Amino acid sequence: SIKATQVKLVLLGESAVGKSSLVIQFVQQGYVENREPTIGAAFLTKKYQTGEQSIKFEIWDTAGQERFHSLAPMYYRNAQAAIVVYDITKAASLDKAKTWVKELQRQASSDIVIALVGNKLDLVQEDEHERQVLAEDAQAYAEEGNLLFYETSAKTSENVDAVFGAIANQIPAP
Ligand code: GTP
Ligand code: MG
Repeated sequence: SIKATQVKLVLLGESAVGKSSLVIQFVQQGYVENREPTIGAAFLTKKYQTGEQSIKFEIWDTAGQERFHSLAPMYYRNAQAAIVVYDITKAASLDKAKTWVKELQRQASSDIVIALVGNKLDLVQEDEHERQVLAEDAQAYAEEGNLLFYETSAKTSENVDAVFGAIANQIPAP
């Protein structure tokens, strides 16, 4: 059998945007309400098959609380991919996401694949008044910076596999 390509991936974004929920949905296909905030970071792995390529994601799910910000470089330093998450129902979380993108573009590896992800899509599907970030605006920002872009729901799993699949497709075969 062919050995899996290891891909180190980091999740960044404001606290409570749903980073841990997205990772758990991708790795374990489950969702729980009222998850505890992450302390420091959590490490998870997941094998993923895309076409001919077999990928093993090594995922660092970082803590979004401001007191943990200084730890982040340890996790994104050698990362080949990053998922920067904001909450569609919270405009300020996109501002925070943009500061993470800037930090990655300045400090992370120059060929890092970055995906911008607007999470909690289920809340705006239930009530469109909940939306504080237009998909078109986030998409335009993503295109300018050459970022992948998705809106997701960690709750319903909508587009969660799509994000990781799109990243996998950008990783060069060994
Ligand atoms: P930190 O670990 O503090 O950085 O937070 P986090 O980004 O990991 O957020 P977490 O996954 O812990 O989710 C925060 C809260 O939002 C929890 O109560 C989740 O249940 C909820 N949540 C996460 N994703 C979704 C989603 O897609 N839809 C809805 N409705 N709620 C979500
Ligand atoms: Mg978390």
